[in-house]
Amino acid sequence: MNIKLSPRLEVIAGCVAGVKTMADIGTDHGYLPVYLVENHLVSTAIASDTNHKPLKKAAKIISQQQLESYIETRLGSGLSVLKLGEVEAVVMAGMGGLLIRDLLEAEPLVAQDVKKLVLQPMNNQAVLRRYLETHGFKIIKEDLAQEMDRVYEIMVVAPGEMIMTNPLEYELGFEFDKNKHRLLETLINRKIGLEQKILISTEGKATPVAKRQFEESSIFIQKLNEVKKCL
Ligand SMILES: C[S@@+](CC[C@H](N)C(=O)[O-])C[C@H]1O[C@@H](n2cnc3c(N)ncnc32)[C@H](O)[C@@H]1O
Repeated sequence: MNIKLSPRLEVIAGCVAGVKTMADIGTDHGYLPVYLVENHLVSTAIASDTNHKPLKKAAKIISQQQLESYIETRLGSGLSVLKLGEVEAVVMAGMGGLLIRDLLEAEPLVAQDVKKLVLQPMNNQAVLRRYLETHGFKIIKEDLAQEMDRVYEIMVVAPGEMIMTNPLEYELGFEFDKNKHRLLETLINRKIGLEQKILISTEGKATPVAKRQFEESSIFIQKLNEVKKCL
C-alpha cells in the first residue's frame, strides 16, 4: 500500500518535486523519500539520520515498500553524509531552526552545491531566515501547512542573494505581504497566542529580563495585529 503523508509532509513533498535526486536529512520514519519515489516525484533518494533507531525505522519501511534499489539509508550528521553533486535537492524538516542553521554552517560547500534546500524549522524561523540572508542563500518560495492548531513554515531555498526590507519578513516569511498565503492569518494568530503566553508569564515581574520580554512581546503583538488589518 502506498504511503499517505500528513499535510505538513505533503506540502514539503510538493516543494521537492521537479528534481530527480534528493536527500532527506533527519528522515526519522522515512515517509518522505518513500512517498517521493513511490509517486515518481524523484528517481532516487538518500534517507539519512544521525541516530540508529530512526534510521532502522526508515530502512524497515523502505524494505516493506521494496524500494531498496531506489532509496539508500545513511547514518551520520547533517549534510556530512553527502558528496558534492550527489543530489539536486535536500530536505531538512521537523528539526529546530538553530540545528538546521548549524547543519548548513557545518557543510557550506554541500549546502551551496544543491539546486534547492527545503527547510521546515519547528522554531527559531526568524534566526534561520537571518542566517540565510547573510550567508549566500535566497528564499525562492515560502509555504505554510496546517495540522490541528499548528502552522508549519516551509522555505524553499537556493544559492543566491535576497534582502528582507521589512523586519517582519524574518518572522512571517520572505515577501509575506506580497504572497498573502491563505494560512497567513492563522500563522499570525498562532504567533500572537505564543506571545500572549510570554506576556502572562512576565507580567508584573521586576527583573530587567522579564520587563524587556514583556515590552518586546507587547510591541510584537501590536505589529502582528497591524499586519492582520491589511490582509
Ligand atoms: C522530529 S524528527 C523529523 C522527521 C522528519 N524529517 C519529519 O519532518 O517528519 C527529527 C529527526 O532528526 C534527526 N536528527 C537530529 N539531529 C540530526 C543531525 N544532526 N543530523 C541528521 N539527523 C538528525 C533525529 O534523529 C530525528 O529522527
